[in-house]
Amino acid sequence: MLRICRYLSKAEIGQLLAGLLFVVGQVWLDLKLPDYMSDITTLVETEGSAMRDIWIAGGKMLGVSLGSVMCAVATGFIAARVAASFGQRLRSLEFRAVESFGPAEMGRFSTASLITRSTNDITQIQMFITMGLLLLVRAPIMAVWALVKIAGKGVDWTLATGVAVAILMVAVALLMWQVLPKFRSMQRLTDDINDVARENLVGLRVVRAYNAEGFQEDRFTHANDALTGTQLFTNRAMAVMMPLMNTVMNGLMLAVYWIGAYLIQAAAATDRLTLFSNMVVFSSYSVQVIMAFLLMSMVFVLLPRADVSAHRVLEVLGTKPSVVSGTRTEGEPGRAGTVEFRDVSFTYPGAREPMLRHVSFQADPGQTVAFIGSTGSGKSTLINLVPRLYDATEGQVLVDGVDVREYDVRALRGRIGYVPQKSVLFSGTVSSNVSYGDDPARRGAGLDVELPDTSTRAGRRREAELLGRDGTATDGGSGSGDGANGNEASDRRDRVQRAVHVAQADEFVDRMEGGLEAPIAQGGSNVSGGQKQRLSIARAVFRHPEILVFDDSFSALDFRTDRAVREALAGEARDATKLIVAQRIGTIMDADRIVVLDDGRVVGQGTHRELLGSCEVYRQIAESQLTAKELAA
Ligand SMILES: Nc1ncnc2c1ncn2[C@@H]1O[C@H](COP(=O)(O)OP(=O)(O)OP(=O)(O)O)[C@@H](O)[C@H]1O
Ligand SMILES: [Mg+2]
Repeated sequence: MLRICRYLSKAEIGQLLAGLLFVVGQVWLDLKLPDYMSDITTLVETEGSAMRDIWIAGGKMLGVSLGSVMCAVATGFIAARVAASFGQRLRSLEFRAVESFGPAEMGRFSTASLITRSTNDITQIQMFITMGLLLLVRAPIMAVWALVKIAGKGVDWTLATGVAVAILMVAVALLMWQVLPKFRSMQRLTDDINDVARENLVGLRVVRAYNAEGFQEDRFTHANDALTGTQLFTNRAMAVMMPLMNTVMNGLMLAVYWIGAYLIQAAAATDRLTLFSNMVVFSSYSVQVIMAFLLMSMVFVLLPRADVSAHRVLEVLGTKPSVVSGTRTEGEPGRAGTVEFRDVSFTYPGAREPMLRHVSFQADPGQTVAFIGSTGSGKSTLINLVPRLYDATEGQVLVDGVDVREYDVRALRGRIGYVPQKSVLFSGTVSSNVSYGDDPARRGAGLDVELPDTSTRAGRRREAELLGRDGTATDGGSGSGDGANGNEASDRRDRVQRAVHVAQADEFVDRMEGGLEAPIAQGGSNVSGGQKQRLSIARAVFRHPEILVFDDSFSALDFRTDRAVREALAGEARDATKLIVAQRIGTIMDADRIVVLDDGRVVGQGTHRELLGSCEVYRQIAESQLTAKELAA
C-alpha cells in the first residue's frame, strides 16, 4: 500500500497534509470537551456558582463540538477528493500499461483479472483513502493524546483502562488472524467470478448450442459461493467487533465509576469534589481511548483488502512489455520491402521447447513468400515475429535490412499490413474498420499516397490536410479550410473504396444498408466469417504498407474470391512484399517462394515446381489437394 503512494501527485500530498491538520484539529477539539465538562461539574457541585458561568462553559462546549464537526467535514471532503483523483490517475496509468502489453504480457494476466484490477481493485484503494487513511492517522493521535491527558489522574483508573485496551488488542489480533487470509483471497475470487461471467458472455453461442446453460450456471454458482462464503465469513467476524467494543467500553465505564465510588468514599470531604470531577473527565477520556481503538480496527477492515489490491495494481504497472521499442525509423537505403529471417529460433514464454528452430529465409521487395505446413507447425508463430508481437529468442528478424528490435515499434508496424488469423473487427462502420489506425503522419512509403515534402509550403499544407488540420489558417489565409477537410474526406472515402474493392468486399458492402457507412457491431458479429476476413484484408491494404502479412487470411474465402483477391492484390499492391500463410496449395502455388514448415523447422524452400521434386512434406500436401492432372501441369 505504501509503494502505491508514490503515484500520488504533489497536489494530492499537499491536500492530504491539509487533511492531516484538520484531523489534528478535530482530535484537539474532541479532547477539549471533557475539560469543559469538568468545569461544569465543578460549577454545579460548588455552592453559589453563577448560572451564567455554567451557560458560558456549555456554550464553549457547543462551539467546540461544532468546530469538531466542521473539521470532520473538511477531512472527509479532502479525503474523498484525493481518493477520486488518485483513483483516476491509477486507472489511466493502468490503462496505458495494458495498452503497451503484447501477447506475452497478456498471457500472464487473464483478461478477467485485468478488468478486476482496473475496476474493483482501484475502488478498494480509493475506499481506503476515503475512509481509512486519515483514520489511520487519527486513531493513534487520539489514543496517545487521550492517554497523556488522563495520565496522573489516578493509578487505578489508568490500570482499568490499560486492562480494557489489552482485552481489545487481543480480540482484534485474534480476529485479524482469522480474517486477514480471507481478505487476501477476496480479490482473486472476484477475478474468478469475472472470468466465468465473461467466458459465458463471449461464448454465448456455444453455450446455447451445447445446452450448457446448466453447466455454466454451476460454474458461476461455484465461483459465486466461494466469494459469498468468504464475504460472509469476514463480515460476520467483523460484526463481532462492534458489540465487543461496546461491551468493553461500557465495562470500562462501569469500572471507572466503581473504582471512583470506593475512592470517593475513602477520601476526605474536601477532596471528594475534585475526585468526582476527575472521575467524570476520566470516563470521557477513556471513551476516547476506546474510540481510537475502534477506529483503528475499522482501518484494519479496509487496509488488508486495499493492500492486496495495491499489490495487484502495482503488478500491472510494474510489468514492462517484453517488446522494447528501439529508435530507428528508417530502414537501410535501397532495401525497402525486404524481410529476412536469420537463423531464428523462438520459445514461447514459459514453454520448455522452442517452437521455431533455426528458421532462415528471405523475401525481396515485391515478392510473394508463402508458408505452408500442418496445423501447429508454427506458421502463425513465425509470422508474428515480423510486426514484433513477440521477439525472436535467438537469431535475427530483419525488415528493410535492419533488425526489427532496432526500430521504433510504431515505425516498424507502420510499414506492415497485418491480417491476423482470427479476424478482429471493432464496433463502428465498415469505413472506420477499414481505415482503422489511420495515422496520416505515419503513412509510410505508400503505393500511391506519398508523404508530402514538408520543406515546401505546398508540402506543409498537404501534410496539414493529411493530419486533418486546416492548412491555410497558419498561412494567414482564411475560408478554404472546409474545402481542405472536404477534400480529405472524399480522398479518404476513395481510398477506403479502393481497399474494399481489392479485398473483394464491395459486393457485400454495397448491399449493406449505408454502404461504407454501414454499422459494424462489436466483434463484427453482424457480418459473416468470410466477410470479416475480407474487411480485415481491406484494412491491411488501406495502409499501403511495404509489407503485407496474411495469416491464413484466405481460408474462409471461396476459391473464386480467393483468386480474385490475389489477382487484385497483384495489381494494386504489386510493390508490397507479401508474406502469406495458407493451408490451400491453390492459394500459394504461384508464390515466388514457398517455405514449408514442419514442427517449427523449415523442411523445404523454393517454388511450387521445385518443391514438388525436392520436398516430401510438400509433395504430400500437394497430392492430398490437387488432382493428378493439376500436379502434372
Ligand atoms: N501463446 C502461446 N503460448 C504457448 N504456446 C503457443 C502459443 N501460441 C501457440 N503456441 C504453440 O505453438 C505451436 C504453433 O502454433 P501456431 O499458431 O504457430 O501454429 P500454426 O502453424 O499457425 O497452426 P494453424 O495452421 O492451426 O494456424 C502450437 O503447438 C501451439 O501449441
Ligand atoms: Mg496459425
